[in-house]
Order: sequence, then structure tokens, then C-alpha cells
Amino acid sequence: MNKIVVNGGKKLYGEVEIGGSKNAALPMLFAGILTGEACVFSHLPRVSDVLLTLEILRSLGARIRFAPGGDVLVDYSLVRPALPSLVHTGAIRGSVYLLGAMLGRFGRAKLGGAGGCDFGSRPIDQHLMGFEGLGAIEYAENGALCLTAPRGLCGANISLKMPSVGATANLLMAATAASGKTVIRNAAAEPHVVALCEFLTACGARIEGQGSDTLTVFGGRPLHGCRCTVIPDMIEAGTYLCAAMAAGGRVTVRNVVPSHLGAALDVFRDMGASLTVGKTYITIKAPARYRAVDVTTGPYPAFPTDLHPQFAALFTIGHRTTGTGRVFERVWQERFRYTEELSRLGAHVKIKGECATFSPCPLHPATLRSPDLRGGVALVIAALSVVGRTEITNAATVGRGYEHFESKLRGLGADVRVFG
Ligand code: EPZ
Repeated sequence: MNKIVVNGGKKLYGEVEIGGSKNAALPMLFAGILTGEACVFSHLPRVSDVLLTLEILRSLGARIRFAPGGDVLVDYSLVRPALPSLVHTGAIRGSVYLLGAMLGRFGRAKLGGAGGCDFGSRPIDQHLMGFEGLGAIEYAENGALCLTAPRGLCGANISLKMPSVGATANLLMAATAASGKTVIRNAAAEPHVVALCEFLTACGARIEGQGSDTLTVFGGRPLHGCRCTVIPDMIEAGTYLCAAMAAGGRVTVRNVVPSHLGAALDVFRDMGASLTVGKTYITIKAPARYRAVDVTTGPYPAFPTDLHPQFAALFTIGHRTTGTGRVFERVWQERFRYTEELSRLGAHVKIKGECATFSPCPLHPATLRSPDLRGGVALVIAALSVVGRTEITNAATVGRGYEHFESKLRGLGADVRVFG
């Protein structure tokens, strides 16, 4: 996916089926290493981050089979504790999960580097602090980060400085293999972290407190393969709801867990959208004009940072929105890169520290460059509201997290084409 072309100005109507969550699938796929057996994943999203993860696992010895019904079987029995290619691991953030999974299974792990969207510095000090607490020693070898646990991993009390999704997931994996009890305090409670707990539990682990800020892992139990279903992608769902708000119309997202989107649904309501929320679906009816509001991102259950750019796009659209909207970004220091591109469409944006202020004004078509996954999709959302042709290059960034992007949007009546 190189380029997305949007001929905006058409309202969206219909239903869209939401896929499995990328950010749940990645830690689950890596956690499977701990079992040394085969796991079957249903609803694995076919997005490039997941396909790259499968490539990394394959390069380490996993055998992967795509079953005709859509399930993916990953057999981890022949996985080796080798150093995977930096070309692969350096492209996705999720590769950092190799550390916890490999350390847990083999007592050692190596990683040349982890990539992901560029939000400035993305430290992993909390992961390393936790591994060290469990008995691992860190060293560098030819530029790779290496961990080893010469005396084995041993349960510990770990308090995270912030509720990091990645550190919580990584430490959960290592802790299931550590002997004795591990308590992780200030843990992340995102639905994808809960999904990892459920996956590990299905593999034989014992974890208490999932969904809270304190996780207790009773480690050292033998793990086995399992069958699991990846939870629906709350960010994909929120993105299509934003698309409907931008373009106007009425859209239903199906196969969702509405409670995962609680904070975002509150914002839609504050903006004046009319929502119908069922057990596994959400319908949004966009008002002719909606209010711009203040949004503050934070760890779950606060408003998700991964929906920040999509809502920000809504606050810029002059003929749809009233008032000034502000986004306070409290998770990532540098998540405002997409605003430069929105400005090319005519958006008025002012950034001061963690706060971006968006004043509505008329937007016009332009040629834009997607800076990252959610920033890129925010540009598409803005473009859907603009009559005329907007081109978005570097669109592979969007393919990292959105499956069947063109067909899903076209199914709602959008004139969108994806090239490459
Ligand atoms: C995950 O990244 C997601 N990625 C991100 O989604 C998401 O934005 C983020 O969680 C927050 O929800 C995946 O799941 C693959 P963190 P992660 O560790 O785990 C600081 C998307 O668009 N921190 O929760 O890397 C960090 O700098 C992507 O799908 C440390 O200081 O995020 C950040 O400010 C983008 N030290 C905050 O914590 C650490 O050791 C949250 O980071 C770890 C994190």
C-alpha cells in the first residue's frame, strides 16, 4: 500500500465488520513461544505488523500454516533463541515482546532493535528494570540487546513507573516462566493486556488481577498450546466511527466490544453524535454539525492515544464542526507530526507542549504524506470530508494496522483507492 487517493465529500452509510486487534495479536503471537507447542489463532488481522511478526517467528524456527477457514496455526516447537533479522524487528514495535517470551522459554534473549511509529523517544527502561527484578542480566553484543538469566528467573515485586502496555505484557510473559509469585504494580489495564492474560491462562498460566493495576502471576507452571480468538480492534472501530462523523451519514461497526471504547463513545456523545450501542455493535449517526471538545489521552480506561489523531482531524473540518477543539496528549511526547500534514489541507493547528488546539476552517484537497499509522488514517478521515481529490503517500504506514482498508471504506460508499 503506497498511496491512498480519496475523492471526498460523500456521506458514508452501511456496516463495517471490525477485525482482530493488532495490539492484542502481537503480544499473543510472541507469547506463544513460551508454550513450545502449537497455538491456533482465530481473527488474526492480516495487517503488515502481524505478517511481519509471523515472518520473525518463522525465521526463528516456527512453522506457520494458514488454514482455509482463516485460522492461523503457529507451531513453536522448533523455535530457537537466535537473533532475528534487524530488517524485520526494526520495523515493528511488537518485536520487543521477543525479550519476555525468549527469556521465559530459554533463559536468554537477543534483539537487534525494535521499530514502530516515531513518537520521539520510546524507551524500554521499565521492561529492563522488570527483567532485572526477575533475575535477568542485560548486556550488549555486536549492537544487540541481550538478556540472560544464569540462575533462572525468580518471582519478584515490580512497580512500574507508568502503566506501560509493552512493559506489562513483556513482564507477564517472563513472569509466567519465573519460579514463584510475581506482583506487577501500576500495570496497564488495556483490553489487549487483558487479552494477553487470557491467552496465557488458556495456555496454563495462573494470573490474578487482570484488568486492574496490580497483576499477580503464579509462575513456573508448564504451559501448553491453545486455541484462541483475537479480540476486536477497538481502535479500528473508533476510526470508522470517526470517518462517519467526518463525512456525515450513518455507520454501524460490527464485531466490537463497546465497553472497550467507553471513553471515546463519551466524546462522540459530547460532540452531539447519536449512538446506538448493542452488545457487539455500535451505530453512529453523524449530526449535520458537531461540537469540537477537549480530549485528554491516558492509559485505559482514559481516552486512548491511538484515537487522538482521528478525533483531532474531526475538530479541523470547518463545515462540520463548531468551536475550538483541544487534544492534551499525555502518553506520547511527540504525537503531533500529523498536524503539519493536516495544515496542508488548510487546518488551523497550534501546538503548545502537550496541547494541540484545532480551530475549524474550510479544508481543501492536497497531496499529503502519512507520518505514521494513526496520523495517516487521520489524514484519510479529514480528506473524506473534503470535496475533491486528496492523495496520501507513504500509505504503508496505514497498512500496518488497517485490514482491507479500501474495501471497508468503499463498502460504506467512500470513493477511496489504494495503490501499491
Ligand atoms: C503500545 O505501545 C501500542 N503499541 C501503541 O500503539 C500505543 O500507543 C501505546 O501502547 C499506548 O497505549 C503496541 O501495542 C504494539 P507504552 P508501547 O509502553 O507498549 C513510556 C498504535 O498506533 N515508557 O504503553 O510501546 C513511553 O515512552 C501504537 O497502534 C517508558 O518511559 O507503549 C510512553 O510515553 C502506537 N519506559 C508511555 O510510557 C518504558 O519502559 C506508554 O508507552 C516503557 C514505556
